[in-house]
Amino acid sequence: MPGSCWARMLKRNSRETMSRNIQGVRGMNDLFPDTTQVWQRVESVLRETGWLYGYREIRTPLLERTDLFSQSIGGGTDIVEKEMYTFVDQGRESLSLRPEATASTVRACIQHGLLHNRQQRFWYLGPMFRRERPQKGRYRQFHQFGIEAFGWSGPDIDAEIIQVGERILRTLGVDGITLEINTLGSESSRIRYRRALTGYLLKHQGNLDEDSRSRLERNPLRILDSKNPQTRRILAEAPVLRDYLEPDERLHFTRLCTMLEDSGVRYSINDRLVRGLDYYTSTVFEWTTSELGAQAAVCAGGRYDSLVESRGGRSTPGIGFAMGLERLIELVQLGGNEGNPAHADIYVIDTTGDSVPSTRRAEALRDIGIRVISHCGGGKLANQLKRADQSGAILALITGEREAELGVVQVKPMRQNIGQIELPADQIVNWCQDYLNDFRTTEARHDR
Ligand code: HAM
Repeated sequence: MPGSCWARMLKRNSRETMSRNIQGVRGMNDLFPDTTQVWQRVESVLRETGWLYGYREIRTPLLERTDLFSQSIGGGTDIVEKEMYTFVDQGRESLSLRPEATASTVRACIQHGLLHNRQQRFWYLGPMFRRERPQKGRYRQFHQFGIEAFGWSGPDIDAEIIQVGERILRTLGVDGITLEINTLGSESSRIRYRRALTGYLLKHQGNLDEDSRSRLERNPLRILDSKNPQTRRILAEAPVLRDYLEPDERLHFTRLCTMLEDSGVRYSINDRLVRGLDYYTSTVFEWTTSELGAQAAVCAGGRYDSLVESRGGRSTPGIGFAMGLERLIELVQLGGNEGNPAHADIYVIDTTGDSVPSTRRAEALRDIGIRVISHCGGGKLANQLKRADQSGAILALITGEREAELGVVQVKPMRQNIGQIELPADQIVNWCQDYLNDFRTTEARHDR
């Protein structure tokens, strides 16, 4: 092939490769430093709250055998039917990216014998994957913080789990959220209820929306979730699950309600709350908001007392929840509680051409936990000060030829309307530490 032809082909190939690769995958987000800073703050509240209640971190792989999810979450659910990223690994076994982490946690507990004569409290935080139609608040890679407790069957752990969620939302200053709870009873109560519900809905089959009609056989309880106005009108007269519960199931729920009231947790009971995953039994709950459009659920969970046994473990009750971080962080930002966006306490400017003493000072400041950005790359002093301002620094330290000769440093307070101060170089570290402490104490007082 003549050289020019090769060159043209290479150019075309590289252009095609570029246009194919240049875009990220739909529904999967990049996060940039201004945002990751908010994420880190929220994540630290989540970790700390888990720690406060004695929950410990578990990390499971992003990939699991597909069967784990289809058998745990349920073959007839939207997640398993339509939303999993699944592939056959080298023609051998079907693997899926995890759409949630309850099933993985249960798998890990059984595989490693973590539940033998032991109760466990876990938390996890990480990406999940669902091939949903992306829109605001709904992504294909999203993140969940979740907690799971194994080995307790009484309503006290249900109340604890709900309190953990409540504390997180309160600590983050998220307002306008409502908690709805319901009970699904045991498998046998649900079977009796399903029969009654299906009987009722079959009589109104012709007037149900298409989605609900298709669920009638596979998963009639999910029809209770329908947003279609006509279907909702039909549901208003439908039998309610509560009437099909055994006395002990009813008692569990009433005791939970009393515990929540005693601890000041506000909730409402929603008979129609059924959740979209098959493993739930008994208590289910969901925090929703009206601030995020259609994607109202911020945190959701419930009991799954049969899941461990159904996956081959010894019968062990379980309960937990998961929060969607993207939605949670959106709410934190809407409430203006993102925290301090600054990424430096001190900005160091040195125009002498020999920055060794300034670098040493910067290191000494970092040694005592002060965040320092050293200006790199020179430029006009005015531009360097502009960078100092953009970094959010509270102080700028400036050393020029004159300061180097005299052994002093110019200190410029960036967030207070006071002039520049000249200080002996060997007093800088202590002075800065005292100044930053005073500055923060005053700021905290103003915030209150
Ligand atoms: P889930 O309701 O499927 O439950 O998800 C929990 C939360 O994850 C939702 O309330 C929402 O905030 C967030 N979420 C779900 N899908 C998306 C998405 N596509 N984009 C953004 N956020 C999303 C579970 O996953 C259960 N494993 C919860 C659980 C734990 N139950 C017991 N233990």
